[in-house]
Amino acid sequence: MCGIVGYIGTKSAVPILVGGLKRLEYRGYDSAGLALVQGNGKMIVHKCKGRVADLEKLLEGKDSSATIGIAHTRWATHGEPNDCNAHPHISQSGRIALVHNGIIENYRILKEALKAQGYSFNSTTDSEVLVNLIEHIQKSNNCTLLEAVQQATKQVIGAYAVVIIDRENPNQLIAIRQSSPLVIGIGNDDYFISSDAASVIEYTHDFIYLNDGEIAIVGRNEPVRITTADNNSCRVDVSKLQLSISQLEKGGHAHFMLKEIFEQPNTLHDCIRGRIDKATYTPVLSGVRDNRKHFLDARRLIIVACGTSWHAALIGKHFIESFCRIPVEVDYASEFRYRNPIIEANDIVIAISQSGETADTLAAVELAHRCGAFVYGICNAVGSSIARATDSGTYIHVGPEIGVASTKAFTGQVTVLLLLALTIGRERGIVPEDRCKQIAKDLLGLPQVLDSALKQVTPEAKSLAKIFTYAHNFIYMGRGVNYPTALEGALKLKEISYIHAEGYPAAEMKHGPIALIDAEMPCVVIATPDSTYDKTVSNMEEIKSRGGKIVAVVAEGDNLAAEIADYVIVVPRVDECLMPIVASIPLQLLAYYIAVNKGRDVDKPRNLAKSVTVE
Ligand code: M6R
Repeated sequence: MCGIVGYIGTKSAVPILVGGLKRLEYRGYDSAGLALVQGNGKMIVHKCKGRVADLEKLLEGKDSSATIGIAHTRWATHGEPNDCNAHPHISQSGRIALVHNGIIENYRILKEALKAQGYSFNSTTDSEVLVNLIEHIQKSNNCTLLEAVQQATKQVIGAYAVVIIDRENPNQLIAIRQSSPLVIGIGNDDYFISSDAASVIEYTHDFIYLNDGEIAIVGRNEPVRITTADNNSCRVDVSKLQLSISQLEKGGHAHFMLKEIFEQPNTLHDCIRGRIDKATYTPVLSGVRDNRKHFLDARRLIIVACGTSWHAALIGKHFIESFCRIPVEVDYASEFRYRNPIIEANDIVIAISQSGETADTLAAVELAHRCGAFVYGICNAVGSSIARATDSGTYIHVGPEIGVASTKAFTGQVTVLLLLALTIGRERGIVPEDRCKQIAKDLLGLPQVLDSALKQVTPEAKSLAKIFTYAHNFIYMGRGVNYPTALEGALKLKEISYIHAEGYPAAEMKHGPIALIDAEMPCVVIATPDSTYDKTVSNMEEIKSRGGKIVAVVAEGDNLAAEIADYVIVVPRVDECLMPIVASIPLQLLAYYIAVNKGRDVDKPRNLAKSVTVE
């Protein structure tokens, strides 16, 4: 949700800012812009509706000598995507400009107060209110920009990451963080401010991660200082981030999503590496080992997440309840945070988030802490806000996920949840040792299985995509762990192809949704072997007898479900615990190829952003 870049140093700022924005475009792509202060003290702003590519066109032939600047790519919250609402926003006098990610919740009141002081506004954004508030404080108190920023942060309510540039001080940027991510990269003779460290990784691996309430003063040729609204100095900690540029490129694939689907054998290998003792087939999660007592004493686990991570949580519930016999509740983070949840002693809250920045999940973590819970994180982005805000956790280690539709993160989350369940189940002496070893052994072989699955199902997914490109609706069905897999398949299709799709537990069909079935309604059924296989087959018969068109995902060697279905995708036969991972592969590919056939912008679907940092 909006990406911010700032640069101060000795190099030309424009290519660094534009390059950073391109890498941040997954966060929003409604409009883009930048502000520079040139050597003559002149503030220049270029901004436009559309993509970073449009901004690049706008910049052609323009002066790019400035060595300080701020830039932004927008996911609109307040005000439609147009040139005027694009960031940066400039104060009324033209002296200061800022870029903002987040929401100023009390902007209406502040705007009215500023209007009464003679301020007028060009945009309908909350961000323009903030820049004028800072200017107003500075002018009326005759104080420094830093002092004005400190006072302004006491007046605004909401979530924000902001970078401010002042044409009268071209040697300094000011950065503020409150519930929206912001990092400062340290170069040789320069600094890079960004919403995501990955966007400037070609320049540095050393980063300062700002905490909530911190204000950074990033000056040319001087160490970064961090303070608060009350002018208390904060420690400046520098962390190393190991990431290679190739992880941020498409690697010859047409889209990041396709690259990420095909990466899954490798990403799961990385996810599992070092977490199963190969001699004894024992799962070892250091986060559980280091917090053994919490997990031994746990009476209930509450998993909070959003979107795809929530689907992974539903699968995790099956694993944990069956291998640990601990009750598990799964909640949307956005619901949990506002419903006064009951958290008791010995409850553990687990937060799952690929980005580690989802505003609702972060707020749920904070609430769980306030209620005294031990909070465990399952994140992908190293150093992200949720990873840092949780007491302990496990990274899924699948590498940066850039396509808006989550694929490899989902399979990584399910894998970690399975390892977590097995590790806790062993510690508590619940999961039988031979069952645990068998699954651990199968997990070690999973990357190879996924490799074959990809080879096996891709041609099938492509040809089915041709048949169903013009379908208007889809139903996905499954039972047990395959019900969340169905939900995830439906989410993939709707978010990138814009085809309406619903996921249901197969037995629920006859409680209402079966009324939708006719020859125009494709039903994707995950009919892989498990304890409810026969029931799923009966549900397929019910669909079939009402004229529905069935696409069944079945395991190798199946002949029952395969015979009933109109179309079949065969996946390798694996233990039912691993099936959500294997069965997801054709669902990801089906969604991908349908979206491509429809000419959709697969990596940047309309209205969406990869990292949902506003609620
Ligand atoms: O980064 P998170 O895992 O917290 O993100 C949660 C959801 O926003 C995310 O999974 C979203 O639903 C994806 N677009 C799904 O593909």
